[in-house]
Amino acid sequence: MEEDFRLYGDDFDSEAIRQWFLEEAQYHNQFAGGRFEDHPKLYQVFDWHLAFAPYFRPTPNMRVLDFGCAEGQALVHLPADRLGFQYVGIDSSQSLLDAAAMRNPGGEYRLMPDDGRIPAQDGEFDYALVLGVLHHVPNVSHYLAELCRVLSPGGRLILREPCHAMGRVVGSHRALPGLSPNERGIPGFYLKRQLEQLGMRVLAVRPAYHGVVLQLLRRWQPSSEGGWQKILVLDALLNKASGWNVHYYRPYLWTKLAPTANYVVADK
Ligand SMILES: C[S@@+](CC[C@H](N)C(=O)[O-])C[C@H]1O[C@@H](n2cnc3c(N)ncnc32)[C@H](O)[C@@H]1O
Repeated sequence: MEEDFRLYGDDFDSEAIRQWFLEEAQYHNQFAGGRFEDHPKLYQVFDWHLAFAPYFRPTPNMRVLDFGCAEGQALVHLPADRLGFQYVGIDSSQSLLDAAAMRNPGGEYRLMPDDGRIPAQDGEFDYALVLGVLHHVPNVSHYLAELCRVLSPGGRLILREPCHAMGRVVGSHRALPGLSPNERGIPGFYLKRQLEQLGMRVLAVRPAYHGVVLQLLRRWQPSSEGGWQKILVLDALLNKASGWNVHYYRPYLWTKLAPTANYVVADK
């Protein structure tokens, strides 16, 4: 299965890519203007505990790329001692970049062109944060190569992506606000394989149970650090109990009882 796996959108020609981004533009418009204010904590708490706390230690002169930065929410829960770095946010949506610049005026912001070339020099960044972005883009292997290009030797990539099929790939798309039909998860083994082919050293592929846990959190958000710790313990237990049950295609209820995303960390 892993050897034969082909990711939807990874072999698109320029016309198919153009169509993809036309559809995505509608999705971006839905995001404009405070979309992320609704639940700023949910993903960011996981990001902090599962990826940033163990793997993100920038020093003040380091340059950090936040690719697909949206409104810059990756920075929201970073403690002050992890904030003293040079921040560059890149996104394909100018309205989101404007919102990010309002929120964090100390950062630098660049618009991503549709041609897939990241507007940055070779080796420009010490870290690249890519949180929930690649499942929105065609030709993921090309974007991974681009991210590798803009990292300095020894630079670190921190990724978070959903890991299962959805939308058009499974022939169904529910027209929910903010959900594009092009979105599809990316399996952890695929990300690992592509990064290794680029010569990167994969340090971690950490599954996370975002689906169920985030649904719970939408209704009930803990008010204390202790409450958040319990959520993380729940996530760890769910991962442990069902890590064997990861399927890319999940047509039955029992196939959905599995982690829904991965954090992947790799050094160049
Ligand atoms: C689900 S949001 C994730 C935002 C943020 N990184 C986070 O963790 O909350 C996906 C973001 O990717 C951006 N995006 C989509 N396609 C992109 C592309 N080709 N290049 C750069 N950013 C893109 C969208 O505009 C949006 O801000």
